[in-house]
Amino acid sequence: MRPLANGATMRPSILVTGGAGYVGSHTVIALLEREGEYSNYDIVVVDNLVNAYSRAPNEKKPESIRVIEELTNKTIHFYPLDIRDAEGLSIVFENHSIDCVIHFAALKAVGESVEKPLEYYQANITGTCTLFEVMRKYGVYKLVYSSSCTVYGEPERLPLDEGHPTGRTLTSPYGRSKYFCEEIMKDLCTSDKKWMVISLRYFNPVGAHRSGRIGEDPSGIPNNLMPFIAQVAVGRLSELKVFGNDYNTVDGTGVRDYIHVEDLAEGHVKAIKLFQQPGFNGFHAVNLGTGTGYSVLQMIAAFEAASGRKIPYKIVGRRSGDIAANYADVSLSHRMLGWRATRTLDDMCADTWRWQSSNPNGFKKV
Ligand SMILES: NC(=O)c1ccc[n+]([C@@H]2O[C@H](COP(=O)([O-])OP(=O)(O)OC[C@H]3O[C@@H](n4cnc5c(N)ncnc54)[C@H](O)[C@@H]3O)[C@@H](O)[C@H]2O)c1
Repeated sequence: MRPLANGATMRPSILVTGGAGYVGSHTVIALLEREGEYSNYDIVVVDNLVNAYSRAPNEKKPESIRVIEELTNKTIHFYPLDIRDAEGLSIVFENHSIDCVIHFAALKAVGESVEKPLEYYQANITGTCTLFEVMRKYGVYKLVYSSSCTVYGEPERLPLDEGHPTGRTLTSPYGRSKYFCEEIMKDLCTSDKKWMVISLRYFNPVGAHRSGRIGEDPSGIPNNLMPFIAQVAVGRLSELKVFGNDYNTVDGTGVRDYIHVEDLAEGHVKAIKLFQQPGFNGFHAVNLGTGTGYSVLQMIAAFEAASGRKIPYKIVGRRSGDIAANYADVSLSHRMLGWRATRTLDDMCADTWRWQSSNPNGFKKV
């Protein structure tokens, strides 16, 4: 705890950047639900709301954060702030005794990144460097970073283990921004042994909190399969396009390693525990997936079973940059974090459907 001038102390805090977004909000609730473990920590969220919904301009907190406070009966410190704003971030570090940072804030739409590379590099790389500078200024060296299996590019072997080459066949500025940030973090760790960095390489997060009160709420047409299927099921979209059925996979459609967002969130809770291990330091990349791949047609069938709704779909041509299959080697996450995904594909579909059917317009009520 940091001592204050009047002799009192500030509670230790976990700073969550992008904590109002999909994975961030589920991680915040996972931290708050850990009775005992993090109950003496404050949770501080910084988010510029570029992809999070706030009910009204004068509403102090975005909807996801407001709902989490309601569900947990706990208070979250929220700052509507861009991570590129070094002065604003410094105020956050002055106001709280930040112990570690979980860094989600980023732009994440792969297609959009091809059209707007500068915006993506600005937000994802400049923003991340600004955050690191402020962390260093305040002597905070513990970081969990949201990386992606995208850094592996076209798989040279499956399952994808952390030793697989990264950065070789990346097709989008988004993917490159995640890869570049990992390289920057490695350089930081080489330059100063105080840094402790865990880069979690997510496979395909899906699902929603079991309450059905928070979930993925993409603005505009969803880029990812599961929210697209869910919006078709609820009647917001008429039909799903399946990009290619001539891949060398179980049924010709693309195969991905889908992971329940609550499992993913728990991976972060496990990761920050490593910071307490004596002698822990340096850069560590760890996959978070289930180790099992499902095809697009298998996902559609599972969602139809969970929702009782028919999902109309049309097979169209392959999408450029898409790969046939990827799934994770998850042995390092078992060994290092003591973590494994426990939720099934049925859980992923049932929880997505609970969220989508009770919130057809996401956090917007109309
Ligand atoms: N969801 C996925 O499929 C997936 C897969 C792999 C990696 N990731 C990574 O996980 C992280 C979280 O993803 P998500 O799905 O929750 O996305 P999201 O868009 O739901 O959440 C990101 C949050 O960050 C905020 N944000 C964006 N730029 C910011 C900035 N400059 N300053 C402050 N806040 C900013 C957004 O408003 C949003 O609330 C991202 O870094 C993403 O690249 C996501």
